Amino acid sequence: TIGNSTNIMWHGCPVDKVERQKLLKQKGCVIWITGLSGSGKSSVACALSQSLHCRGKLSYILDGDNVRHGLNRDLSFKAEDRAENIRRVGEVAKLFADAGLICIASLISPYRRDRDACRALLPEGSFIEVFMDVPLQVCEARDPKGLYKLARAGKIEGFTGIHDPYEPPLNCEIVLEHSEEVCASPRDMAEKVIHYLEENGYLQ
Ligand code: PPS
Repeated sequence: TIGNSTNIMWHGCPVDKVERQKLLKQKGCVIWITGLSGSGKSSVACALSQSLHCRGKLSYILDGDNVRHGLNRDLSFKAEDRAENIRRVGEVAKLFADAGLICIASLISPYRRDRDACRALLPEGSFIEVFMDVPLQVCEARDPKGLYKLARAGKIEGFTGIHDPYEPPLNCEIVLEHSEEVCASPRDMAEKVIHYLEENGYLQ
C-alpha cells in the first residue's frame, strides 16, 4: 500500500534519468532556497536561472508565491498547510530533477522538519539547501511587498518572522549572507551557487 492506494505498480522506462542527463549534459538536482520573506530568494533564483541558461544548462524555478497561484492555491499559512506546501513542491522538484533539470525551489519553508523531509525524498547529493542569511530587520526595512507593514499593523496573521517562527538550517550546503556589514547582490549570490555546482560536478 502506498499512501491511500493499494495495487499500484511502478513503471520504468529505458529512457531514464541517466539517458536524459546524457542528452542534457547536466546532472538533475534540486537547489532549495530557504529564507524569510524579503530575503531575496526569488531574485537569487532568477539570477541563478539566468546564469545557468547562459551556460546552456536547463533549469526551472518553483517559486512559493507562484505555486500558491495554482497547484497549492488551496493552502493557507498554518503550519500544517505550509508543511503540505513544502511536501508538494518537494515532490514536484523531485520529478524535475528526475527529468534531468536543475530545479530551483524558492520558498520560505520555515520549518526544518519540512525541508529535511524534502531532502529525504531525493537521492543522496541531489538536494542542495541554500540559506538566505539575511537578518529580519534588513528584510523588514526592504519590505518589497509591504507585507511586514501589514503584519505589524495586525492585518496579516501568522507572518513568518513576526508571529510565526523561522528555523534556520543547521547543516545546509550553501549560506548566502547579506546584512548591513556584508553586502552581496543577487548576481554575486547566484555566482556562489554556480561555483558550488561546478566544484561538485553538477555542470559538465
Ligand atoms: S511557506 O512558508 O514556504 O509555505 O511560504 P511560501 O509558499 O514560500 O509563500 C511565501 C509568500 O507568501 C506571502 N505571504 C506570507 N509569507 C509568510 N507568512 C505569511 N503569513 C504570508 N502571507 C502571505 C509572501 O508574499 C511570501 O513571499 P516571499 O517571496 O517569501 O516574500
